[in-house]
Amino acid sequence: MLSDRMSTALNDQLNAELYSAYLYLSMAAYFASINLPGFANWMRVQRLEELTHAMKFYDYLVESGARVELKQIDAPPTEWSSPLEVAEAVLAHERKVTGLIHKLVDIAIEERDHATNAFLQWYVNEQVEEEASADSVVQSLKRIGDSPGGIFMLDREMGQRVFNPMVSGIHGGVG
Ligand code: FEO
Repeated sequence: MLSDRMSTALNDQLNAELYSAYLYLSMAAYFASINLPGFANWMRVQRLEELTHAMKFYDYLVESGARVELKQIDAPPTEWSSPLEVAEAVLAHERKVTGLIHKLVDIAIEERDHATNAFLQWYVNEQVEEEASADSVVQSLKRIGDSPGGIFMLDREMGQRVFNPMVSGIHGGVG
């Protein structure tokens, strides 16, 4: 049985994960608009990952007998000045999400909710990967600088990224 405080905090994080998906879809649209389909693909894959993160919270709330309360999702930004600015925004956003996940763990500990604490450890580990992945794109773009050839090569590489539901912790596809 989840405490009201824990249930509210998990519902807030469900909303935050849906916002992440919305933000990354907006970034995908930006990349499509500047003719970088590989980067757009990267963001579309990230969006699917965020939906799996959201659904894991949804399923946990339902399995715990708590109510899922869907709230309004904020509108994301729509314009950025460069691929590097987008990648840096992704990294900053993932760092913010890491902070939110750690706050959830703090609440679980304060509530003596061992089951939720165990559930959240998957996210703690996932955020390490999420930040490392975003940081590697930032570093690649910094190395490339303004080289059109470099951006073209990286775009091709980003186009090969695929969504893997097994890696994302969802075994039945995106819910
Ligand atoms: Fe749901 Fe990218 O963290």
